[in-house]
Amino acid sequence: METILVIGSGGREHALAWKLAQSPSVRQVFVSPGNAGTSKNGKIDNTALDVKDFGAIVKYCKDESVGLVVVGPEDPLANGISDYLIEAGIPCFGPSAAASQIEASKNFSKQFMCQNGIPTARNQSFTEVELACKHINQSTYPALVVKASGLAAGKGVVVAESKEMACQAVREMLQEKKFGVAGESVLVEEVLEGEEVSCLAFTDGSTVVMMPPAQDHKALNEGDTGPNTGGMGVVCPYPKVSKADLDKIQTDILQKAVNGMRERGTPYKGVLYAGIMLTADGPKVLEFNCRFGDPEAQAILLLMTSDLFDTCLACTNGSLSDHCPVFDHQSCVTGIVLASGGYPGSYKKGMTITGLDRAESHGLTVFHAGTAGDEDTVLTNGGRVLAVMATSHNFRTACNLATRGAALVKFDGAYYRRDIGFKVYASCPEEPGMTYRDSGVNITAGNSLVEAIKPLASMTSRAGSTVKLGGFGALFDIKEAGYTDPILVAGTDGVGTKLKVAKDTGCHSTIGIDLVAMCVNDILAQGAEPLFFLDYFATGRLDVNLAKDVIAGITKGCVEAGCSLIGGETAEMPGMYPGGEYDVAGFAVGAVERTNILPRLNEISTGDVLIGLKSSGIHSNGFSLVRKVIEKVGISLDMPSPFGSGITIGEELLTPTKIYVKDVLPLMRRGLVKAFAHITGGGLIENIPRALPADLGVIIDALSWNIPKIFGYLADKGNISDHEMARTFNCGVGGVLLVDKTQVDTVMEQLGDQASVIGSVHQCKEGCRVKIENLRQAFKQCWKSMTATRMCKKVGVLISGSGTNLQALIDYVQEQNNNSCAEIALVISNKSGVQGLERARQAGIPTQIINHKDFGSRQSFDEAVHKALVTAGVDIVCLAGFMRILTGDFVRKWNGCMLNIHPSLLPSFKGHDAHCQVLKANVRISGCTVHFVAEEIDSGAILVQEAVPVYPDDTEATLSARVKTVEHRAFPRALELVASGQARLGGEGQIIWCQ
Ligand code: GAR
Repeated sequence: METILVIGSGGREHALAWKLAQSPSVRQVFVSPGNAGTSKNGKIDNTALDVKDFGAIVKYCKDESVGLVVVGPEDPLANGISDYLIEAGIPCFGPSAAASQIEASKNFSKQFMCQNGIPTARNQSFTEVELACKHINQSTYPALVVKASGLAAGKGVVVAESKEMACQAVREMLQEKKFGVAGESVLVEEVLEGEEVSCLAFTDGSTVVMMPPAQDHKALNEGDTGPNTGGMGVVCPYPKVSKADLDKIQTDILQKAVNGMRERGTPYKGVLYAGIMLTADGPKVLEFNCRFGDPEAQAILLLMTSDLFDTCLACTNGSLSDHCPVFDHQSCVTGIVLASGGYPGSYKKGMTITGLDRAESHGLTVFHAGTAGDEDTVLTNGGRVLAVMATSHNFRTACNLATRGAALVKFDGAYYRRDIGFKVYASCPEEPGMTYRDSGVNITAGNSLVEAIKPLASMTSRAGSTVKLGGFGALFDIKEAGYTDPILVAGTDGVGTKLKVAKDTGCHSTIGIDLVAMCVNDILAQGAEPLFFLDYFATGRLDVNLAKDVIAGITKGCVEAGCSLIGGETAEMPGMYPGGEYDVAGFAVGAVERTNILPRLNEISTGDVLIGLKSSGIHSNGFSLVRKVIEKVGISLDMPSPFGSGITIGEELLTPTKIYVKDVLPLMRRGLVKAFAHITGGGLIENIPRALPADLGVIIDALSWNIPKIFGYLADKGNISDHEMARTFNCGVGGVLLVDKTQVDTVMEQLGDQASVIGSVHQCKEGCRVKIENLRQAFKQCWKSMTATRMCKKVGVLISGSGTNLQALIDYVQEQNNNSCAEIALVISNKSGVQGLERARQAGIPTQIINHKDFGSRQSFDEAVHKALVTAGVDIVCLAGFMRILTGDFVRKWNGCMLNIHPSLLPSFKGHDAHCQVLKANVRISGCTVHFVAEEIDSGAILVQEAVPVYPDDTEATLSARVKTVEHRAFPRALELVASGQARLGGEGQIIWCQ
């Protein structure tokens, strides 16, 4: 698996990164500097490198094990980035500085074309205004194109309407230096008449593979009027190039250019872009570019069906003929650029962009160019802000979809052309009649879902209903169900953001059980037997297999609850839910004989007993809070559950909600239950009073049942108050029965060990109706008792070497007399065979070797370390001679919980060679520092320092040995301060000392 670095920040680079990330051989794509579209997006992330500092780029590539650099813009290529990287052994996609002259110098380019017989406009080059103007005025052909010879970011070309205007352009470039050095010499060229088309090719220096031809729209305004821009839109493939012309472009232009470059000893490898005019005399070259065009790249890459990474690599190593790119020739793409108001003149930045999700939910692709911010808040940050791309089998449809899509994306001053593709629009086949399918609703998929779920639903048939899906309404025979004087009870519910967990884990098979449980447990509280159930499944794009999984869960829940799934609705609503997101709702209807309705409020009195029924976990409430805690802790759903259950955290969270019908209904029918409270949204605090008369309350003892560990974990990690816990979660009790004290034994006998007597009913005049005693203690017991026998913090130590500091920490915490609040739970080394690992093993401490060389990037290495620490339940991380620089992400995750020891008196002598610096500086005192770790190396709030003298005859070795003696006191002391809570990191990055 490879890590790729893409250089550049525009739409072209976003498209390149997007396409490269699709390669199964690519682990990670970094874009420098990138934009909001490439910031933290799946495999893609931004990195900030100075593009001019090739040395820094090489270092970065080596540190991150980058396997290929793909260069977007022309400047770094012309400046030799490719030569530099290849020299350093790093494959680079993009031509050498010498080969890039084909774009960088218009004079060179023209001469090259003439020498190699490549058809182009007649031209002459000038450095003096008078001579240039004389040529313009006397030429036998219309010499009205004036080009600055050097690189001018695609803007140094003027196509003048008159000889006067051409002369004016010459003066602006040569005299007024409008384009600086780029305009020190100008080319005056013949105006070519015809249609313009961009023809790009991949080449490895010999083989040339052309991409589908594209047409850029350079003019700012509709009808190709107004000033020239970097490109306001694109269509691809441009349909008006004949096969004969395409062949000529391939052989007489692109192949000739590549051969010519090879023959002059500057082989051309990368993308060769030929701007072509289709004249009456055949195709002629307007210009060559040494890289992908923008916005052509966005359209072309959308049509590329093969692996871009393979092709790019093949271009660098001469094997393109074995890795030819493949394009979808059945489809076409239209791209519309949204520009900032005022562009190409001055414009504002920082406007908030909205509607990106909407455009994407309509099946459009948005490539960012001039944007900043992140996925959540995207701001304008350039002239050409982004491009909305539509793909279709029909050219007109693509144009129409792109125009409609552009209207969905909004920011102050947004400007775009509504006529992209206008030159070919009329000559293209009519858009086929609109279909419901085209708009995103797939009736066939809907029908196949119904067929797939019919056998599942029929398994839920019961007395009163024979399930037959497909009718307008469903019938239920309440008499056949055995009722004589029934009251119907109905309830509806959803499963909240537990759905997000299902989505994030890709496991959708149990959400349906939750849905049924949430509804039937509600109507059970009225004493009702659930009879039938209807579901509502709404999605942005129907995935039949996923929907079937969800509905299979619903049928399981119905069987468990004894009710029939007699109907439902599947709604495919493109544009309403992004992509394949979905939501579910359920409706349960049950019946209770009139005389058995619950709660029997007038029979409930003080002294009645509360029997709590075990929950199966969190059930389906409070998941927004649960997800926040998980995010804060920094664990991921695929990690092993910290509760020792042998399943993942995701599986733990998805444990389906318990359905209480079969246990509770028989007791209700025997008249043993006065009330039943379903502990749903609102937790214990809000739900128990729903089953009580207004003047009564309850007192519950939280130590009377076993609270599942997950609740203690949430309370601890989220620092959630007891009241908040009890008002949000079931805390281990999913249902509460109110029973007369004389009936308690009978009921308990029936329910077995899933029930506990948890409290009793009391008079309650005003105020708190649910008083829960010992809740804090119960939470602590359930979580802390598992994580540590003593109430101490788990410590993870990261080492790279001899581990004398590790030894000092071990000795301190394991010494009984110290009564330490720390316990070393894990030692991780990034190197195998080091002495520190042996020290840990001797002390019976688990060890792990996580070798940074096994990872493609620092980030993935840090993620593995983080995962190991979290899995071991680590609270505090100690860096004890750990010789790797940690990423900002890692440092932020452990902010306030990570200590480092450094062998100098910080802030002096930071870095890996502190002793050497101390000796060089001839200072007479040094020492060690233990500090909280902040993002900047060897900085962060200082906890403990100890000093040692530096002697004139000290060597690094003698000084290091002396410093270590004090390190071995300082580090345990600092750790104890943090583990015991005597010192912690404040919000301003300062130490807060506590008693
Ligand atoms: C210690 O001197 C520690 O201060 C230093 O590495 C040595 C590790 O020794 N740490 C750093 O330089 C971190 N910047 P050890 O492996 O024997 O504990």
